[in-house]
Amino acid sequence: MSAGRLQDKSIVITGAASGLGRAMALTFAAEGADVVVGDVRPDPREGGEPTVDLIERAGGSGIFVEADASRWDDIDRLVTTAVERRGRLDVMVNNAIVAGRHSKGLLETEPEDWDAIMDVGLRGVFLCCKRAVRQMLGQEPVAEARGRIINISSQHGMIGAPGHVAYCTAKGGVINLTHQLAVDFGPQGVIVNGLAPGKILVRQDSDEVLAYSHARTPFSRLGRPADVAAAALFLASDECTYVSGINLLVDGGWMAY
Ligand SMILES: NC(=O)c1ccc[n+]([C@@H]2O[C@H](COP(=O)([O-])OP(=O)(O)OC[C@H]3O[C@@H](n4cnc5c(N)ncnc54)[C@H](O)[C@@H]3O)[C@@H](O)[C@H]2O)c1
Repeated sequence: MSAGRLQDKSIVITGAASGLGRAMALTFAAEGADVVVGDVRPDPREGGEPTVDLIERAGGSGIFVEADASRWDDIDRLVTTAVERRGRLDVMVNNAIVAGRHSKGLLETEPEDWDAIMDVGLRGVFLCCKRAVRQMLGQEPVAEARGRIINISSQHGMIGAPGHVAYCTAKGGVINLTHQLAVDFGPQGVIVNGLAPGKILVRQDSDEVLAYSHARTPFSRLGRPADVAAAALFLASDECTYVSGINLLVDGGWMAY
């Protein structure tokens, strides 16, 4: 069997039980990485087998760690687990999100809704970046990089989405946090990028959401988790060297329209 594009890389992904985190975990493991699957639940929100069960059945390497991506001690456990398994942390993917019932317009959003989204979607990303950078600065570079961070943002961190005030604000923060860390830690060889999915189908959406998304997406179909995983694979790999501080849109042209 030929070596994968992420052969023996040590990778942590938050929120990797479901959706896009799960797709990235499966792709990364299939490309030879050891994946620490962090989440508050092992079972996918959309149903099906736990991510790590699929990884192991396919002959890959991974472990599930119950971890809340808004809590420092849990984030520390994710990174420590990766380092204990492979001696370093090559890639940190900050993907976990809370939105759902908390994501509303300004007048309907209570402080508790704001905090629920911000705790995981922005404050948690800050904590995950901090813990990952701390580890990466002590590692020797591989292919000129001490480590890579991928922050999952959204096209809605660049523009508004009707009625999702805290979510859009959190994602805007994630994009600028990404710029900031690429600037601050580029000199030491830490590569930091954002990945902004457009509308990706991970489970059943309402007719209203689907109609709006189709109307905004020039491409002939809406996104698949594999579209995001393919872009993330590039950002996670040694092929990603001089690309840092970007927010890579995987949106079928949403932001071009
Ligand atoms: N699906 C899309 O169309 C889309 C579009 C733009 C951006 N995104 C972004 O992509 C990322 C993944 O989205 P998704 O659609 O796969 O979401 P999802 O809801 O399917 O999965 C999110 C995962 O995060 C986990 N999670 C929730 N709170 C957590 C916490 N405190 N700690 C750890 N894990 C936690 C959930 O259990 C779940 O497994 C998010 O950052 C989201 O904002 C998604």
